[in-house]
Amino acid sequence: MKRILLIEALANSGPYVLDAARSLDAHVFVATHEDVYESYPAALRDKIHGTVFTDLTDPDRALAELAAFARATGIDAVAGCWEFFTPLVAHLAQRLGLPGNDPLRAQACRNKAEMAQAFRAGQVPAPATIVVDSAGQAEGALGRAGIGFPVVVKPAEQGGSWGVSVVESPGQLAAAVRHAQSWPIAAPHGLPMDQRVVLQEYVDGPEFSLDTVVWRDEYFHMPLVEKHTTGGSYRAETGHTCPAALGHADVRAVRAATERALQALGIRNGVAHTEVKLSPGAGPVVIEVGARLPGDHLVDVVRRASGIDEARAYLQAVLDEKPDVPEPRQGACAIRFLTPPRAGTFRGVTVPGRHDGLVDQHLTTPPGAVVGGAHDNSARIGHLVFTAPTPGQVNADAARILARTRVEVS
Ligand SMILES: Nc1ncnc2c1ncn2[C@@H]1O[C@H](COP(=O)(O)OP(=O)(O)O)[C@@H](O)[C@H]1O
Ligand SMILES: [Mg+2]
Repeated sequence: MKRILLIEALANSGPYVLDAARSLDAHVFVATHEDVYESYPAALRDKIHGTVFTDLTDPDRALAELAAFARATGIDAVAGCWEFFTPLVAHLAQRLGLPGNDPLRAQACRNKAEMAQAFRAGQVPAPATIVVDSAGQAEGALGRAGIGFPVVVKPAEQGGSWGVSVVESPGQLAAAVRHAQSWPIAAPHGLPMDQRVVLQEYVDGPEFSLDTVVWRDEYFHMPLVEKHTTGGSYRAETGHTCPAALGHADVRAVRAATERALQALGIRNGVAHTEVKLSPGAGPVVIEVGARLPGDHLVDVVRRASGIDEARAYLQAVLDEKPDVPEPRQGACAIRFLTPPRAGTFRGVTVPGRHDGLVDQHLTTPPGAVVGGAHDNSARIGHLVFTAPTPGQVNADAARILARTRVEVS
């Protein structure tokens, strides 16, 4: 029986990783903080073989304590779910002599300022990017770098579109930089976040994500996923469709850009979630990479669409077994997130009429809760999942049912 040490399971992909471990007949030990473990849902705890408690906000101490635990327990592989702990995963794997990513470049997988630098060094097609410490520096720094409006403003460290905004003119810049600095600490562990702010050239075009399992520097790509976001100032994700309806040449180009990005970040054994825009003028432009499985239930969406279990393939890679990534079967799956039409008290969701292709629905917010507007992914109150034989059909089914779906707010 193989033993896997998973650094923090309280993430969207956590239950998928734990199910995948069971399918591989492996035991999972979860490293977390005792107080955070208290908040684990019972269904998540039931999937875990054992726990080891440490302070994940103190990387040196966590590394020493987890290495000692791993040696005493006979751990065969180290894995992670949460982006902010991917550097710790890389360092621990290296210390134990187990397969993993390059620890020297691992910080660039969680920090967008360092990621931009790694992309420049690796000649990855990526937006022109500068980094500032404060709102007062932003306009001058953009001028010196020759970056014109619109610009994208984002926290150096965050996720889920929190603090990300598209700014059309210099007058909105200072407020956007301050907005990006609104999260000095990340819950639930209380990790301090880099308060620098990234300013980026705006890239036009449709957006996609590509998940890649990497084993011994070999790339196993999942089907490409079409990403749907809001337009305007805030870019919250509204849904995903797998596979994206793109031609072979575009898929090849996105894969090539992704592989350059993974090389630049030292991702050599594990999994990566890469977000790419397909610019009409410049082709694929890499927006960001996480050295982790995707969130947003994409593990489920990809599996329903293609039959491929990327969580299982990821665990195989860190166990140093060849990942099982078959040719995708014919099929498509879409997830759409439900958001309130306005701020208020959430009352419930109704989906009247026929439910063609609707295979799953889930509310994450209880009726009676106070909800805000859709600025980032925290506005979601639940989601719907659809399947159909083709991406065109699943997008049409989702659009039709979503148009009828009522999210009631009073
Ligand atoms: N340079 C850019 N040009 C155009 N859109 C962008 C750019 N950077 C980010 N976005 C949009 O904002 C979203 C969130 O930004 P992202 O860098 O992915 O941050 P997060 O880590 O919060 O997901 C992206 O999915 C994309 O839609
Ligand atoms: Mg993103």
